[in-house]
Amino acid sequence: MSKECIQYLEDKQEQFLEELKEFLRIPSVSAQSAHNEDVKNAATWLANHCKSIGLKTRVIKTSGHPIVLAKTPRKGKSKKPHFMVYGHYDVQPPEPLNLWTSQPFEPRIEGDNLFARGSTDNKGQHFVHLKAVESYLKTGTELPCDITFLIEGEEEVGSESLAPALEKLKPELDVAAIVVSDNGMPDLKHPALTYGLRGVAACEITLTGPNRDLHSGIYGGAVDNPAMVLCQMLAQLRDADGRITVPGFYDDVSPLSKLERDQAKRFPHKDAKLARDLGVRELFGERNFNTVERRSARPTLEINGLTSGYQGEGSKTIIPSVASAKITCRLVPNQKPEKILRLLERHLKRLCPKSVKMSFEKGHSGRAYVTAPDGPFAGAALEALEEAFQYPPVLMREGGSIPIVTDFKRVLKADTLLLGLGLPDDNAHSPNEKMSLTAFRKGMKMSALLWEKLARAAK
Ligand code: BES
Ligand code: ZN
Repeated sequence: MSKECIQYLEDKQEQFLEELKEFLRIPSVSAQSAHNEDVKNAATWLANHCKSIGLKTRVIKTSGHPIVLAKTPRKGKSKKPHFMVYGHYDVQPPEPLNLWTSQPFEPRIEGDNLFARGSTDNKGQHFVHLKAVESYLKTGTELPCDITFLIEGEEEVGSESLAPALEKLKPELDVAAIVVSDNGMPDLKHPALTYGLRGVAACEITLTGPNRDLHSGIYGGAVDNPAMVLCQMLAQLRDADGRITVPGFYDDVSPLSKLERDQAKRFPHKDAKLARDLGVRELFGERNFNTVERRSARPTLEINGLTSGYQGEGSKTIIPSVASAKITCRLVPNQKPEKILRLLERHLKRLCPKSVKMSFEKGHSGRAYVTAPDGPFAGAALEALEEAFQYPPVLMREGGSIPIVTDFKRVLKADTLLLGLGLPDDNAHSPNEKMSLTAFRKGMKMSALLWEKLARAAK
């Protein structure tokens, strides 16, 4: 990487932030159909931006939200190694809005942070790589490798269009490895290479009782209450030791190696600090595992949403007709999402009394991802992290999911280097999401350094 690239990245900070703010103003919420047009606009904005920095760009239509594919210019049949950067321009819903200090889609810089929905997850993080590549293109510095950016618009809802599109795009995605910054690092003094992610399996259970909401005085005591039944059923899914009670749930779980358990112990983490940061009196999790393991290498079952009855102002004396729960399980290597959902459905059916009718709907899913962090590409990534952040990087597994990464491995036969730039207090998926400007700045440097190191490692 030339001095010009570094200088370019330093000189243009202000401009980059203005551009990123423009991107963040587009409310590309993929989960809400009212935002479909905004999601499309974000794809168009991104494609135009990629073109403006010198990438050969196209927008690929899908049955859902479009995919932006942008490539560094190539001369004839390129002999350079080829890498891919993956990211997503869709964002999580911003609700509940009243908990935001400023509007989610009106980006605001305060101190070292840029606040906006999508700042860390994931517009800001893939923007870092775009800017690093821009520094080569705009200073006339020859790139040591070919790079393809693949940025999708459905990551937050399960990447359902990208998985099939990947098969079609395969011939032009002959990449040696994939780089993803859509995750985290423990803090700015611990840059990280993540070598594992959890999988996920989503579902929704609905219980229906009487054919309409009933007066709870007239009927209460004689007709079952679906909200009460739902609570009783869900309460049985976990025991006092924090173990999920669905029979077979743990059958396929790969145990942690001694090496991994030792690594997890060395990780910069304090239970008391985490509890304080999150505003809970104490942490809770599966017995016999520490917090680091519980958050990354153990499977879980969580209720994500509960809906039933009257939720407006004041009280309303009814027996609700319907109650439902959205549930997701986080999965670890070797667990199969389809099997887990089958086991869960069977178990819930057994727990469900005759007084209500149960329906079970499967949602999106994806397997866990783990790779050995010891190849030449991992070595290159660790070097780039250390040079840019000036601290030795840590190796870790994370609890979040990016299911498409397992499709990359299956279809493109390439491993993914997860170089997260998010910090624990970035509030991904929560109100007041932000990205650290230091992570943004050092991330760009890391990315600029990375391409040379990866290209060297490919030879
Ligand atoms: N950026 C996250 C994934 C992530 C977060 C990985 C933190 C590692 C650490 C991504 O945008 C995300 O939220 N993914 C979803 C996937 C789901 C909808 C299939 C998730 O993990 O909930
Ligand atoms: Zn996310």
